Amino acid sequence: MKTTEINRIAVLTSGGDAPGMNAAIRAVVRAGIFYGLEVYGIGHGYQGLIEDQIQKMELRSVSRILSKGGTILKSSRSQDFRTEEGRNKAHDNLKRRNIDALVVIGGDGTFTGAEVFRKEHGYPVIGIPGTIDNDLYGTDFTIGFDTATNVVIDCIDKIRDTASSHDRLFFVEVMGRDSGFIALRAGIATGAIAVMLPEENRSIEDLVSILEEGKKNQKTSSIVIVAEGESYGGAQEVARQVTERYNEYDTKVTILGHIQRGGSPSCFDRVLASQMGVFAVESLMKGRTNFMTASVNGEMELVPFSVAISNRSDIDNELKRMSKIISI
Ligand code: F6P
Repeated sequence: MKTTEINRIAVLTSGGDAPGMNAAIRAVVRAGIFYGLEVYGIGHGYQGLIEDQIQKMELRSVSRILSKGGTILKSSRSQDFRTEEGRNKAHDNLKRRNIDALVVIGGDGTFTGAEVFRKEHGYPVIGIPGTIDNDLYGTDFTIGFDTATNVVIDCIDKIRDTASSHDRLFFVEVMGRDSGFIALRAGIATGAIAVMLPEENRSIEDLVSILEEGKKNQKTSSIVIVAEGESYGGAQEVARQVTERYNEYDTKVTILGHIQRGGSPSCFDRVLASQMGVFAVESLMKGRTNFMTASVNGEMELVPFSVAISNRSDIDNELKRMSKIISI
């Protein structure tokens, strides 16, 4: 299998953690060792790389982590890696330990850092998309999105029980700083009357007329899902502006917050992370570097970092359209 001189690789997780990152770490470590490589784990993402938090991983270092949320390697959003000095230190640490290539697991910030590092040092890096937001261009799914969406629907099902008992209107804020993937999918899965997405800029007037229509159609309680990055500034503000214009409901706001990033990964995320981890190692060994692994129609593909980070992953218009039909 080895076609290039890669003998030692290192793996790190960076940015917001996502359920399934551990399954990806495990797959990288196991595949690397399977193919005769030495594998190192870097603690605390790029910050740990700068601070030389690097340890050799063995087959058993990754035992029993498949079902655990979070990341055993820990993560960070490193400010130092944004500086040339920080990146130089990171490069020195990799060179001193004769590490030939790096596997980075994270989101767009992680791959932006990887792309700059590659340009400056010509260092081989491969990326695995791990973020609950599912906002990376070029892959159908990112690791953690499925689990996070399942956490969200579990919470909203519970909110629905109490909303219905009290005939209330709930505004539920979900994560998605720049994207509405969680909000849209959870909206369909929980029967929300409306979703507010960063990609859509739906107006308060529009939302009020949907609520009025719902009342006419005998709805006694309703859920509106608000992605944190939508244009009014989140669920509190949307609720405030709606109740100013329309006060037919007793209204409550719930912000789900970081609960969405925790928990045991779903089967889908464990399998996706395992596939991507193995594919990343095999791609590196074939000399394919500076790519993100991607799942496209169920097949593993490689997408250049530059493409993944410079394009916006569009929300599915068909899902949006049908969600409006069934929420009346
Ligand atoms: O992981 C992505 C994300 O969940 C965004 O949706 C959210 O805005 C952000 O992380 C919050 O991350 P933190 O609070 O850890 O910086």
